[in-house]
Amino acid sequence: MQQLSVVILAAGKGKRMASDLPKVLHAIGGKPLLAQVLATASRLDAATRVVVYGHGGETVKKAFADEPDVIWVEQAQQLGTGHAVAQALPALDAGSVVLVLYGDVPLIQAETLQPLVADARQGRLALLTVELGDPAGYGRIVRDERGRVSRIVEHKEATPSERNLREINTGILAVAADKLAGWVAELDNDNSQGEYYLTDIIALAVRDGVAVEAFTVAEPAEVQGINDRQQLAELERFYQARQAERLLANGATLLDPARVDVRGTLVTGKDVIIDVNVVFEGAVKLGDRVRIGPFCLIRDAVIGDDVEILSHCWIDSAEVGAGAHIGPFARLRPETRLAAGVHIGNFVETKKAEIGLGSKVNHLTYIGDAEIGAGVNVGAGTITCNYDGANKHKTVIEDNAFIGSNSSLVAPVRIGKNATVGAGSSVSGEVPEGVLALTRAPRKDVVHWERPVKTKS
Ligand code: UD1
Ligand code: CA
Repeated sequence: MQQLSVVILAAGKGKRMASDLPKVLHAIGGKPLLAQVLATASRLDAATRVVVYGHGGETVKKAFADEPDVIWVEQAQQLGTGHAVAQALPALDAGSVVLVLYGDVPLIQAETLQPLVADARQGRLALLTVELGDPAGYGRIVRDERGRVSRIVEHKEATPSERNLREINTGILAVAADKLAGWVAELDNDNSQGEYYLTDIIALAVRDGVAVEAFTVAEPAEVQGINDRQQLAELERFYQARQAERLLANGATLLDPARVDVRGTLVTGKDVIIDVNVVFEGAVKLGDRVRIGPFCLIRDAVIGDDVEILSHCWIDSAEVGAGAHIGPFARLRPETRLAAGVHIGNFVETKKAEIGLGSKVNHLTYIGDAEIGAGVNVGAGTITCNYDGANKHKTVIEDNAFIGSNSSLVAPVRIGKNATVGAGSSVSGEVPEGVLALTRAPRKDVVHWERPVKTKS
């Protein structure tokens, strides 16, 4: 089978984005447009992925420095889609089939493209077209009296009757590399825009007796290009609607499917309930029967079965054990690992914290660089003082210890098993098992004391 080379055209300026950021670095679903297209190419098992870049090329290349096996080809001057493909040709295996995609058409699906690639492997030229209510601006598919594709005419060159054609060129096509190279070499820029039109190869294929097959995509959003922020916003909503449909189909309840955003991959267990305005970023996994209240952000997290997350929680790079109870207004920062049944209450911040089975940190507390055992109760207003201004130090609280409210645990510090820290204490060092550690000053009652009175001026 001939290998597949995918050429992604991304040299356009994207002026209408009115942005300092190159267009293909703007995101849909939290992922740059170009990343979406590169991922689709990978799903098609492309042996080679070539990106033709121009404006902002260095920034784009840098953003994809971690992406393996991408060939970057510069098109210094944007002389047209035919010229752009010509720049990529030397990087391609002449025996491969080529699929041309656009860097600013992010939602095209591998399933839609597969038949085109298969067709190209059969020696045909495969085009992806779509019927639009308003085809203005696009290249039109011109067919002969028998309905066969004969050429593409660009909007600017089209006659009034051609402009009435509603089947348009998406720009996506597949054909054998050697044929493509021959036709591209024949292109000229003798047209109203002075550009080398890739679309002119259709007529050359017909001339050479190569069958041209048009595949029509049913969903226009899949081939919608992004030229401005309005289109970016519309396509984002389309994408999110699809994410919501997928979640619903997998058995999640979304109280409003229009008010959940997935910017990454979200895997849900059975009977998950997600309230409104919850944002998921990166890779998030929710176990069975997880309930999430309104206004939460959850990023790169694994949430166990039966966890309840109340409203307004921020959870970033954390693991939450089964049956845990989080929030409202809790902030779990990276490297937080909560065992089963842990309670984290309002205005509690955790960072690099391991909290054991059933332990409770219910109110107004900071737990950082800490290891907390099972059955521990951390009182309101407890602070792990982990930072001395230069270095971070660790707090260890062993099983069943009890930390009284408003305590400062000045790290490095270890609270032994079953030990108690009296409320309002400031503790450092080692507290032995079972003792009461208390640094609170004894109460003094001043009996003959009078409140100050306001002096007359
Ligand atoms: C092109 C097609 C048109 C089709 C439309 C679909 C041609 C001549 N016309 O129109 O039939 O209906 O796409 O959107 O091919 N690009 C480069 N280098 C260039 C020019 C363009 O890399 O020199 C890239 C752009 O970044 C973009 C894509 O090619 O990703 C399409 O360019 P654009 O100018 O948007 O398309 P049109 O030429 O208007
Ligand atoms: Ca365009």
